[in-house]
Amino acid sequence: IIDAAGKLVSSGLIDMHVHLREPGFEYKETIATGTRSAARGGFTTIACMPNTRPILGTPETIQLVLDKAETEGNGVRVLPYGSITVNELGRELTDFIAMKQAGAIGFTDDGVGVQNAQMMKNAMSLAKSLDMPIIAHCEDESLVVGAPVAEGSFATKHGLKGIPNESEAIHVGRDVLLAEATGVHYHVCHVSTEQSVRLIRQGKAVGVHVTGEVCPHHLILSEEDIPEMDANWKMNPPLRSAKDVEAMIQAVEDGTIDIIVTDHAPHSEEEKAKGMQAAPFGIVGLETAFPLMYTKFVATGRWTLAFLLDKMTVKPAEVFGLPWGKLAEGQEADLTIIDLETEKAVQPDEFLSKGRNTPFTGWKLKGWPAMTMVGGKVVWSE
Ligand code: NCD
Ligand code: ZN
Ligand code: ZN
Ligand code: ZN
Repeated sequence: IIDAAGKLVSSGLIDMHVHLREPGFEYKETIATGTRSAARGGFTTIACMPNTRPILGTPETIQLVLDKAETEGNGVRVLPYGSITVNELGRELTDFIAMKQAGAIGFTDDGVGVQNAQMMKNAMSLAKSLDMPIIAHCEDESLVVGAPVAEGSFATKHGLKGIPNESEAIHVGRDVLLAEATGVHYHVCHVSTEQSVRLIRQGKAVGVHVTGEVCPHHLILSEEDIPEMDANWKMNPPLRSAKDVEAMIQAVEDGTIDIIVTDHAPHSEEEKAKGMQAAPFGIVGLETAFPLMYTKFVATGRWTLAFLLDKMTVKPAEVFGLPWGKLAEGQEADLTIIDLETEKAVQPDEFLSKGRNTPFTGWKLKGWPAMTMVGGKVVWSE
């Protein structure tokens, strides 16, 4: 018997954008540590990105992740995405059919971004014929070379080259048009700008099958909040202007953006210590996502609890056609028990992820998961 008195019982959280780093970058994260981190964050299902080494672009690599997740995945459901192009080089398409058969749930260019429009159009046509989604990272490389943060006050103050909003929106616009032409389900990764939102909204209005996701950090932080030259504030897309942040919040509220994801991107302490210019992009997110969203949007009264949970449970399942969004009668429970009362500071030392790279260190939050259950079994408990 589990005593959940005074706590929230929700269907399990679902995160459709996670970097597990295995195979190849086990010093950053493994399937074991990443799933443990997910369970502690209240997530019962996660989808993992293919920018590992080797890249997840063959049935064998997809199978490898599924096998490891089965034995070392701490009971968390792990759904792999396959790479759109061979080795994420943008030159030739991978074998979508074989990867689908092996268990890939969609195809993505996350981390790199397919630059060639014909290549992306071919990928979308093929995905459409297989009834599979394309999940696109959306970044024009030529506009971002050497820029570690967004254009804005922080870049100016520190003499850094800035990433412009167009570098994302140009690809969103391109890919909405290609999705219209091919009829594919196009899901936009980590949307962060007002312009991208506008283009997705227009696409939805004319019936294009386009969906979008946003990360907690792009709903909570702007580039003006970056305190110093600290690479724990460096991620892709970068923190944008306060105006973009408000546009992102409104896009969630009006349904233009469908779901909330973490883009959990662990890196080692050594890598992040290289500084703002040289360090890799990315921050961890699994263990802070729900408390951040709850504290900033529900505890403040802007959103209802039901609205937030919808974006982290029911909607991701709907968007990707997964069976685990809602608790249904007769189904073994995927659920999360959450303590909405106790306030606690974010302490990266306590993370179960190998990654400590977060800009939220010390933030006092409520909404900490207390127990996570997958298929009726407890997979993590406080
Ligand atoms: C991701 C990573 O580290 O793999 N980094 C990031 O800043 N988000 C790649 C990505 O999601 O584009
Ligand atoms: Zn990305
Ligand atoms: Zn793109
Ligand atoms: Zn990512």
